[in-house]
Amino acid sequence: MAMGMDGVLKLYFGESNVPTPDYIKHAAQQAMTDGYTFYTENAGMPSTRKALASYYRKLHGVEIDPSTEIVVTASGVQGLNMGIRCTLDPGDEAIVLTPAWPNGSAIVQMSNAVVKQIPQPMVNGRYEIDFDALEAAVSSRTRLLLFTSPSNPLGWAATSDDQDRLLEFSRRHSLWLMADEVYERLYFGDSQVAPSILKKCTREDAVIVVNSFSKTYSMTGWRLGWIVARRDLAARAAQLNEFVISHAASFTQRAAETALATGEAQIAEMLQTLKANRDYCAAALAKMPGLTVPNPEGAFYLFPKVEGLIDSFEFCKRILLETKVGLAPGVAFGAGGEGSIRICYAAEMKILIEAMSRLGDFMSRR
Ligand SMILES: Cc1ncc(COP(=O)(O)O)c(C=O)c1O
Repeated sequence: MAMGMDGVLKLYFGESNVPTPDYIKHAAQQAMTDGYTFYTENAGMPSTRKALASYYRKLHGVEIDPSTEIVVTASGVQGLNMGIRCTLDPGDEAIVLTPAWPNGSAIVQMSNAVVKQIPQPMVNGRYEIDFDALEAAVSSRTRLLLFTSPSNPLGWAATSDDQDRLLEFSRRHSLWLMADEVYERLYFGDSQVAPSILKKCTREDAVIVVNSFSKTYSMTGWRLGWIVARRDLAARAAQLNEFVISHAASFTQRAAETALATGEAQIAEMLQTLKANRDYCAAALAKMPGLTVPNPEGAFYLFPKVEGLIDSFEFCKRILLETKVGLAPGVAFGAGGEGSIRICYAAEMKILIEAMSRLGDFMSRR
């Protein structure tokens, strides 16, 4: 609806308004000139995998074997797809922590497997993991547990204790633990990056990490991501890649090496802007009647709970028609999402100021 209307303040998308930085575009142009226009290995170019291993060494202090534990994918969603397809047989079950970006659950269903969505409850203004509900959800067919940290849409990031407990739970029930870490660089904690589950697990653990260039480097349209996984799964994912997309575009992989090597200053700058946006919007929303807004620890979303709301889809439609502010309804994010609305604050400040003003008027009239 919003796409067909003029003058909408679009805060419903899951991407920033910042174009891909020039140094990455130039690297892609140079890569084409240099002949990076041919097929590559199914797991991605060895040089790209090496660059990713070096990124993990520098940023997370973990050693990943580039030749056996990394698969470059054509986006984060393709990484999710490869990981999920490699772990689930038809009839198997996967547990997904929600509210979450819906694609993980959808891919489980496309694998003819069954999704059990376990909502993350808000306790004292912070989202948590309901470990009792996780225990109750496990059956003899459960093979996979998927969580997203930092989370879209919650902005929640797993604590060290959360990660220990998720690992312990997955080991005890012999599950694959899949961590979607595509927002790891959009993190407002003390460190440069959200702590990865890879710092906690051993290389024998059944762990899969999904990551992407989309959010960190404003490369959504390029379609480039990767997975890090135990070597048996990584080998299967690389084989499976042959029949899905074969590999990510070669000049894109080459440009990504430049992004990894020289992108830190741009990431720091983007984070400063996002922090200012988050603080501005969180403060504005906190003043509106009927909204409870946990302070996001990462990603670029706010997910306020709206008092008494039972139909977030209708509510977002009304906001759109009456104020021309486009938001995403919480119900789109699965169990636990109804009753909330998602606001993407990766927009220009002047758009955010106008959107918060219109939303404030709407909430006061409600
Ligand atoms: C939680 C999460 N995971 C993965 C993705 C996929 O990103 P991409 O496929 O652009 O790499 C997104 C995109 O919005 C996301 O929000």
